[in-house]
Amino acid sequence: MTKIAISNQKGGCGKTTTVMNLGAACSAKGRKVLLVDLDPQHHLSSWLGFEPDGNPTATELIYYAVARQPIAYDNYIRHSKTERLDFIPSSALLSGMLGIIAQDSNSAEVLSRIFDDEYFSKYDYIFFDCQTALDLLVTNVLKCCDKLLIPVQADVLSYEGVEQMIDTFIKVKNDPDIRKYILGMLVTMYVTNTKHSAQIYEALKDSYGKLVFEQYISFRTEAKNAVGYNKSCVSDKNSTVGMQYSEIANLIMEVCENETI
Ligand SMILES: Nc1ncnc2c1ncn2[C@@H]1O[C@H](COP(=O)(O)OP(=O)(O)O)[C@@H](O)[C@H]1O
Ligand SMILES: [Mg+2]
Repeated sequence: MTKIAISNQKGGCGKTTTVMNLGAACSAKGRKVLLVDLDPQHHLSSWLGFEPDGNPTATELIYYAVARQPIAYDNYIRHSKTERLDFIPSSALLSGMLGIIAQDSNSAEVLSRIFDDEYFSKYDYIFFDCQTALDLLVTNVLKCCDKLLIPVQADVLSYEGVEQMIDTFIKVKNDPDIRKYILGMLVTMYVTNTKHSAQIYEALKDSYGKLVFEQYISFRTEAKNAVGYNKSCVSDKNSTVGMQYSEIANLIMEVCENETI
């Protein structure tokens, strides 16, 4: 089982879109996938068609983990009706858990405690959708994950945030050799008919070399439209974005599955 964080403190760079589509792509290739929504704005949960159902969410999961209460994990898992994906939904109250996590005697590892549980070994991949921040909740995800993928929108502002993200990651892992954890930087919303995206892509390559995926994700309206159908782009055989995410999923599976053999 591999835990993958999809994180960048820049908003709107394609984190949620990447979680949904990589999850769907790995699932389409026969892997058992869990998506964990850790953004109080719960866009991923909404995309998956989630509506509050009386069962607990990621908010309660963290609350009980800090309280050192026994957790019935089955109650937290939902099954998408439209995709072959399991997920743990988020709620707006998740933002209130920051203060709760901070009170834990081992506040850096609350999520590690949860997801190291034997229960989760039935999954091949767990993808974490992080909120747009580098706060204690996100650093908990970074600590807990085996791998990190950083989506970078093909614009200048998001490119600048990557350095800070990497610095934080080094501190969290307490290991200067972070290459073994980084799956790559994925350039998203790439626009082919202007030079701008190409310039950002090249600048990123100059700075980070092989850490940048050759395959980028194009800017296409189908990525936005998929949300309304509660579907991934991967499930649409004609979707360019779907095919691109499938390609990235192949690379990820190659890395993760060859390491564990
Ligand atoms: N490849 C793409 N082409 C066009 N729009 C995209 C693409 N990827 C994401 N978007 C849109 O950009 C916005 C931000 O993406 P999102 O995945 O929600 O980012 P984040 O989770 O980092 O805030 C959303 O409206 C989403 O539908
Ligand atoms: Mg998001």
